[in-house]
Amino acid sequence: MQNFDFLISTRLIFGKGTHKQIGELVKPYGKKVLLHYGSSSIKKSGLYDEVINALKQSGLEVFELGGVLPNPRVSLIREGIALCKKEKIDFILGVGGGSVIDSSKTIAGAAYYEGDVWELVEDRTKQVPGGIPLGVILTIPAAGSETGGGAVITNEEKQIKTSFGNAYTRAKFAIINPELFFTLPKNQIANGVADMMSHIFERYFTTTDNTELTDGLCETILRTIIHNGPVVYANPADYDAWCQLGFSANLAHNGLLGLGRAQDWACHGMEHELSAIYDIAHGAGLAILTPNWMKYVYKENMGMFLQFAVKVMGVDGSFRDPEAVILEGIARLRALFNSLGLPSTLSEVGIDESKFELMAKKATGAQYGRERAIGGIKKLSWQDVVEMMMFGATAV
Ligand code: NZQ
Ligand code: ZN
Repeated sequence: MQNFDFLISTRLIFGKGTHKQIGELVKPYGKKVLLHYGSSSIKKSGLYDEVINALKQSGLEVFELGGVLPNPRVSLIREGIALCKKEKIDFILGVGGGSVIDSSKTIAGAAYYEGDVWELVEDRTKQVPGGIPLGVILTIPAAGSETGGGAVITNEEKQIKTSFGNAYTRAKFAIINPELFFTLPKNQIANGVADMMSHIFERYFTTTDNTELTDGLCETILRTIIHNGPVVYANPADYDAWCQLGFSANLAHNGLLGLGRAQDWACHGMEHELSAIYDIAHGAGLAILTPNWMKYVYKENMGMFLQFAVKVMGVDGSFRDPEAVILEGIARLRALFNSLGLPSTLSEVGIDESKFELMAKKATGAQYGRERAIGGIKKLSWQDVVEMMMFGATAV
């Protein structure tokens, strides 16, 4: 196991009715609040009115910026930064999913920068003189961004989707009330399941030895997701199942599961290229790529994939034929995704081969003259990624 140094400074408030305290939670940070949200879901569900009323009852002055799209765009982030500067905003409240939270984080972390926000994204050595504190109310368990320090944002002109983070992009508090998930459409539930599972896979499939504790944590949380994902998919008003799933999604990406172990992140690297160019849902892209990636790399670490097949996917085959057990485990993962209506081929989401090479070169940095292999279990060159995408075109 490797050494680690771990701090999650975000206060996590979990459970029924917890969003009702929002006014009192924001109040200590100042008077002017920017409420940042997505398209229409929080207005339809009534959450918008509840939040606005709670903030106003606490004597806060509310400014708002809606319209965050999935794969959040830097153009709206620029608008948010300009609004914060003009109105001297004291606090940013993001109400939504990973896209809203990541947009909020980026505004918070770049609001004091005098140049353009994309300069900060491109050059991580640039310093900012400060940031605006932020808090979030989560409405979809998926990205796990609520307690993390990083954001994933899209430059729509450059067709680049990449991460951003600095000392000011971590939320002061995150509210997870599973009641707020009841209104999620089935495709978003499924996307969330694929994403939270992927966040665990990226950490679980490791080259580090002696990781029994975090292996076990990963396996337990994966099994919890595999059990409760289909339950909420069938009944989106099952509070108890949402509690298990919402907590799992948070643990999947708060950093805990990756402590002391080398991580992979090849699937995320590849998926961000799909979302950047084709604007598909992140979870859907991961559902397509992940089983194909597993099939492409499992021979590099048969023990790890055997453990996955047996302990996570419940395969009960002969250990004298580990390969059969592994392939059955991967097939069960694909079947789970299919049962949730997730796509299994790139062609299903309208992606053909024409940009495979471009996406592979972007994912590995070869497009920008800084080529490096991605992944951990198997180091993938851009040529490997093209092959992976070819796999994706026909599904395992
Ligand atoms: O815009 P509205 O109308 O709110 O609708 C949203 C959106 O269309 C809808 N939705 C959210 N909560 C709802 C709801 N609809 C009904 N009822 C509710 N309660 O769901 C749609 C998707 O929302 P989005 O925020 O895009 O989903 P998600 O949480 O999956 O976030 C995806 C983004 O997070 C990034 C992804 O790349 C993607 O851009 N990620 C961020 C990470 C991070 N910051 O650490 C890590 C992840 O790996 C991921 O890359
Ligand atoms: Zn993800």
